[in-house]
Amino acid sequence: MITAVRNCGQLVTLSGSPEPRVGSQMSELGILAHGSMLIEDGLIKWTGPDSELPAYDEDIDAKGMLVTPGFVDAHTHAVFAGDRSSEFEQRIQGATYQEIKEAGGGIMSTVQATREATFDDLVSSANQRLRWMLASGTTTLEVKSGYGLTFESETKLLRVARSLGPQRIVKTYLGAHAIPPDSDSKKEYLDSLIVNLSKVEFLADFCDIFVESGYCEPEDARRLFTATKLKARLHVDQFTNNGGAKLAAELGAKTADHLEQTDGDGIAALRQAGVIPVLLPASVYCLGLSKYPDARLMIQEGLPVVLATDFNPGSSPTCSLPFVMSLACTQMRMTPAEALTACTINAAHALDMGDRVGSLEPGKRADFIIHDVKDYREIAYWVGHNSVAQVFLNGQNIWSKN
Ligand code: NIG
Ligand code: FE
Repeated sequence: MITAVRNCGQLVTLSGSPEPRVGSQMSELGILAHGSMLIEDGLIKWTGPDSELPAYDEDIDAKGMLVTPGFVDAHTHAVFAGDRSSEFEQRIQGATYQEIKEAGGGIMSTVQATREATFDDLVSSANQRLRWMLASGTTTLEVKSGYGLTFESETKLLRVARSLGPQRIVKTYLGAHAIPPDSDSKKEYLDSLIVNLSKVEFLADFCDIFVESGYCEPEDARRLFTATKLKARLHVDQFTNNGGAKLAAELGAKTADHLEQTDGDGIAALRQAGVIPVLLPASVYCLGLSKYPDARLMIQEGLPVVLATDFNPGSSPTCSLPFVMSLACTQMRMTPAEALTACTINAAHALDMGDRVGSLEPGKRADFIIHDVKDYREIAYWVGHNSVAQVFLNGQNIWSKN
C-alpha cells in the first residue's frame, strides 16, 4: 500500500548532509513548494513536486498547509510525580532555584514524590505528558531518570521510560542528578551508584550527570564515565561556569546540555571534540533568568546546535518545542530556519537517530506534522498558539487537533 501526502504548501524536507548540520547548513531546509511525499511500510519512498507525483493507492490531502518532520526533543525529564507550582510562586516572590534547593525543595521534593509513586501511576502521568508533547508535534524524545536516586527507584524509572509511547523513546540514566540527603555522604552515594552500574546500564542508551556546585563536581563525572560504557550527555555550565564544556570535551560526550555560562574557550573545546550542544532556553525563561546560551557564537564556530525543552517540574515545565523555537529566535537570535533544524535533524543526531528520523528523505521513518499555517517561519512566530494540526508516526495518523 503506497500513501501519498500531497498538496503541501511547503514540504520542509530538511534533506541534506547525513552529518549534523553546521553553519549555513542550519539554514538550508530543503523546502519543496507545492510538494508531495510517498510512504510505503512506514518509510518515506519519494519526495518531489506535486506535478511529478508517481502512482499511489491512497492519499492524504495537506490542503496547501505546511508539512515538516516530527519534532525531536533531545532532553526531557518526563518521568516524575507531583508538581512544583508552589516553587514557581516562591521564585516569583524572590527566592532563587538554589535557595529553594538549600531549604530542602527543588529536585529532592520531586524525588520524594516520585519514590512514593507506583510504577503504574508513573507510566500513566508520563504518558499524559507524552500526549501533550504529541499535541505540540514531538514524535521522538529522550527521557531521563533522575528522580529516584536509589538503585531500585532509578531502575523503576528507566523501566517506566521503556514502556512509554506512542513516540520513539531514547532513555538516559541520570542517577547522578543530585546527592540524596538520606545517603551518608556524596562519596558513599556515588560509590554505590558505580558498583551497581552494570545492573542499570542495560536499561539505558546514555548516561547523564548534573555538574554544578552543590550537586556533582567535574571529578565525580570523571569517575562515573570511567566506570560506565554508556555514552555521556552532561548537564553543564547552567548556573556557574566550572569548566563544564571543557569537561564534556575531555570525556568525549555525545552532548553537552544547558551551557548558559559557557564562554568562547568552552565553545572551542566542544567544537574540537565534536560534542553536540543542546540548548534549553525554556529553563532560562521559566526560572525568570536572563542569560541565555550564546547560540550565535556556537553557530559561527561551526557547532551543530540542538534545541530541547528540558521538560521537568522544576526549571522547565513546558513540553512545547514550538515555544522553545520562539524563545531561541527572540532571545538567542537564531533564525526560524536554524531553530527548526535544531529541533529536527540536529536533535535526531544528538540521539544517534539521525539516520532514521529528523528529516523527510527516502528511507527514513515517515514521522511528520501537518501544521495549520503556510510558512515554516510561522511555527515560532505565532507564539503561544499551537499550529500543529495532525501528527503522523510511521505514516500513521496518531494525533489530530479536533
Ligand atoms: O535540567 N539542572 C538539573 N536538572 C534539571 C532540573 C530538574 C529539576 O529542577 O527538577 C534541569 O534544569
Ligand atoms: Fe535537564
